[in-house]
Amino acid sequence: MKIAVLGTGGGARCHIAKLAGLGHEVHVGTRDPEATLARTEPDMMGTPPFKDFLAEHPGITLHTFGEAAAASDGLVINGIDGHNAVAALSAIAGRLAGKTLADYAVPYIYNPDIERPWPTPWGVNPILDPCDSDSLGEQIQRALPATKVVKAFVTQEQATVVDPKSIGGGDHTMFVAGEDSGAKQQVTDLLTSYGWSDVLDLGGIVAARGMEMYAHMHGAIGFALGFGTHFGIKVVR
Ligand SMILES: NC(=O)c1ccc[n+]([C@@H]2O[C@H](COP(=O)([O-])OP(=O)(O)OC[C@H]3O[C@@H](n4cnc5c(N)ncnc54)[C@H](OP(=O)(O)O)[C@@H]3O)[C@@H](O)[C@H]2O)c1
Repeated sequence: MKIAVLGTGGGARCHIAKLAGLGHEVHVGTRDPEATLARTEPDMMGTPPFKDFLAEHPGITLHTFGEAAAASDGLVINGIDGHNAVAALSAIAGRLAGKTLADYAVPYIYNPDIERPWPTPWGVNPILDPCDSDSLGEQIQRALPATKVVKAFVTQEQATVVDPKSIGGGDHTMFVAGEDSGAKQQVTDLLTSYGWSDVLDLGGIVAARGMEMYAHMHGAIGFALGFGTHFGIKVVR
């Protein structure tokens, strides 16, 4: 398949490498390909410059977000920073029309100025906005009514999303939510090809609220286990 990955961050790179390894034609989207390729320093998360990643993964094409979306034959993965995703995706709405958009972004606001901050080993925990009475997944679906948005992958690090068997032999649970059952099946099929066997359909896109709010629990578990520890969650039933 021709699959677009919108984003050049650490999570997006996990999908790009995995999809290429599975034999898909991968089209990567960034704001400005020239500027992205000109970067020589790691980003704030310590992720190395994208050109280093491309050198290790020949055959992957870097485009603007819109060009990458247009090159996909049906499936697009959204890895644009959550705070900026609605604006960036709205700008290319026409190129996403009719396609499935698997969205794993978290609507984090970093360095929040709030009364009761949550100190963590890595600084003040980001806050979620929207939260509770709305979600980024719903905002994206409202902004792109002709696109089939599926919230997925968001409850884990993308390194283990693309390699579920690396923890617990793969005995953990992945979630999908969205309005279109065919699109959810498309994303579930992708997850199966990644190695997932337990994919739980949470229903409509409103369930993105719970999936995104789990980010705080994911963070708390990560702080407890220590940096670099990989883990998943299992819905026992
Ligand atoms: N990393 C993970 O394992 C993981 C797990 C669960 C959820 N998430 C969430 O998924 C999202 C993506 O994570 P990530 O680690 O792949 O990448 P990231 O570093 O959070 O985001 C990088 C991407 O966001 C784009 N971006 C940043 N500011 C922008 C702006 N003002 N306008 C348009 N685009 C902008 C960048 O564009 P350029 O390419 O032009 O620089 C880049 O492609 C985040 O919301 C993150 O919290 C990540």
